[in-house]
Amino acid sequence: MSAPSMTLFHNPASPFVRKVMVLLHETGQLNRVALQPSQLSPVSPDAALNQDNPLGKIPALRLADGTVLYDSRVILEYLDQQHVGNPLIPREGSARWRRLTLAALADGILEAAVMIRYELALRAPEKHWAQWLDAQREKIRRALAVLEADNIAELSCHFDVAAISVACALGYLDLRHPDLQWRDAQPQLAAWYADVSQRPSMQASVPQV
Ligand code: BEZ
Repeated sequence: MSAPSMTLFHNPASPFVRKVMVLLHETGQLNRVALQPSQLSPVSPDAALNQDNPLGKIPALRLADGTVLYDSRVILEYLDQQHVGNPLIPREGSARWRRLTLAALADGILEAAVMIRYELALRAPEKHWAQWLDAQREKIRRALAVLEADNIAELSCHFDVAAISVACALGYLDLRHPDLQWRDAQPQLAAWYADVSQRPSMQASVPQV
């Protein structure tokens, strides 16, 4: 087996990193990437990461020639063009825009969920901004309701960029926001998630925190 040619700034709790790990697994590319642990938060940056990504965000992927790619969407697109199997991001046509829009919906859930996590974990309780937290939670609820009402069949047909992104979003809600009890109002999504959670790529990337 050849040595990994790429380096991924990695944190097992990051759902954006998890998307990349799941795609690497699904496309048989895990051994091409070395993981560089990155412990960071908005108030405790990772100096090595900042050298490669001035935004200080993970995931960031350093290629063999030193080029650094970020964010997760760009990395997924790049990695999906580096394997010979069926693409997990449609290359063209309406399917491309549909699947990327579903992936963006999942990323929006994640962005809100991570912001809530930072507010609750990093700021003193008396400084928590309840109205803002509620607005973030509402954003998540609206997005989940749309997935339940409109997208179960679409999610079920391929485990591609859209499904990977939604699965990682739901996994992160379970990890950091079990209080949201998202399954109660989304039974079909819960059944879909129970199924895809069994995939080796999802099992191998369950956050160990
Ligand atoms: C978390 O611990 O929830 C987390 C870690 C890294 C990136 C995003 C979230």
